[in-house]
Amino acid sequence: MATILLTGATGYIGSHTWLELQTAGYDVVGLDDFSNSSPEVVDRLEQLAGRAPVFERASVCDADAMHTVFERHRIDAVVHFAAFKAVGESTQQPLRYYANNVGGLLTLATAMRAHDVKRIVFSSSATVYGKPETLPIREDAATHATNPYGETKLIGEKILLDMAAAEAGWQSGVLRYFNPVGAHESGRIGEDPRGVPNNLMPYVAQVAIGRRARLSVFGDDYDTPDGTGVRDYIHVVDLAQGHVKALDRLLVTPGSLLVNLGTGRGHSVLELIAAYERASGKPVPYDIVARRPGDIDSCYADPAKALADIGWQATRDLAAMCEDSWRWQSMNPHGFDAA
Ligand code: WQD
Repeated sequence: MATILLTGATGYIGSHTWLELQTAGYDVVGLDDFSNSSPEVVDRLEQLAGRAPVFERASVCDADAMHTVFERHRIDAVVHFAAFKAVGESTQQPLRYYANNVGGLLTLATAMRAHDVKRIVFSSSATVYGKPETLPIREDAATHATNPYGETKLIGEKILLDMAAAEAGWQSGVLRYFNPVGAHESGRIGEDPRGVPNNLMPYVAQVAIGRRARLSVFGDDYDTPDGTGVRDYIHVVDLAQGHVKALDRLLVTPGSLLVNLGTGRGHSVLELIAAYERASGKPVPYDIVARRPGDIDSCYADPAKALADIGWQATRDLAAMCEDSWRWQSMNPHGFDAA
């Protein structure tokens, strides 16, 4: 079976994808520098998979380390998660984001090319669409990044397109994620943001568990049914399985692909709060406050192309996302580092 190099392997989406790749029969070499994740994740993955993971502690920005990894392991394809992903932080620290996200991809792709590894699945984001002109969002919608983080994703996509045009046999699988939430059903791995969570569900989870007193709802005057922001929340295990399907396709069929990974359904902030209260049995008190700069009214995917191109569609609903998130949060009230 093919061997996959998974960068950002101990991160939120990376760790869930690691499990799904192994379940699908792939051999995995996980790689991470723990700049935004915990070493505890490696131990959790060993417990869940029942075998010692093959893991390399390295940064994708370290050219020598990356060449060593490709010399040490026979890699058939790469799934590239390693990147910073906080929109607000990217606006305050653009150079750090371009150096890590774009520089890291350039270093990784250079090492791949030097070792004749020609397939890469790339973690992109619905943020590349900016404020969508039409909904649901199709892959041929206009792209317009509104922050440095989104720009790094658009630049990454362009780098891979140009490589595929220049290098025979080079294949990229660009996956544009909507809003990943939830956790593995075991409750042993999940989303563990450092500091104050930027994203809605981890913040709601920390209010439900009592780590935070109240949620701030960023505006209720949007052009949506209840006035709060509408997003396409996708279960992280559905998302991980989308990566397996993309790899399956790249390994058997020539050519590249680009698909949205979303459910096609939008839910508002207030709907998510109510669903979380039902799933956890805990109150989630909140206050309506001013809009967060840069937020948009609604964003949800047209998932048809993913079904047509890689035979994937999401199967888990918002209730399952909240139940699995709550199991993780209640089993790990202070995340991994408290272990
Ligand atoms: C969802 C909704 C907020 C927090 C971001 C990135 C995107 C991707 C996913 C990386 C919005 C509201 C949020 C809070 C709130 N990340 N909200 N109170 O902004 O859709 O997408 O994360 O790829 O690139 O842009 O997700 O979870 O931050 O916000 O009211 O404390 O919840 O206004 O309507 P977003 P989010």
